[in-house]
Amino acid sequence: MGQVQFISPRIGGDWSILCRSHQPISLLKMARIFNVPLPVHCQEGICGTCAVQVTPQRGTRYGHPSPFEKQTLHAIGKVSCIDEDDLAQWKGPRWRLACQCMVETSDQFFVAF
Ligand code: FES
Repeated sequence: MGQVQFISPRIGGDWSILCRSHQPISLLKMARIFNVPLPVHCQEGICGTCAVQVTPQRGTRYGHPSPFEKQTLHAIGKVSCIDEDDLAQWKGPRWRLACQCMVETSDQFFVAF
């Protein structure tokens, strides 16, 4: 069972969600289902409004953002290089687009926005 903890220091919220879905689900869809007030606009990976900092827990891996997602993150200044692909090395939080970041059924993440 997946678990995602959304944390927003900016608006002072903390939402811990157990994912009972049997299929991968986007962070944005999960936030919507559980009324987490994640900023959102296009829902297509274009605007960057839903950028969040994701930190995997307990062996969960980051997953790989698509080239399209990387391009948007670069355009909004969240990653310095489109070809930046040091996912295996980096232990800290990484920027992802909530509308593009899929959560597998056993994943565990902290998500800050
Ligand atoms: S809502 Fe626009 S990129 Fe996710």
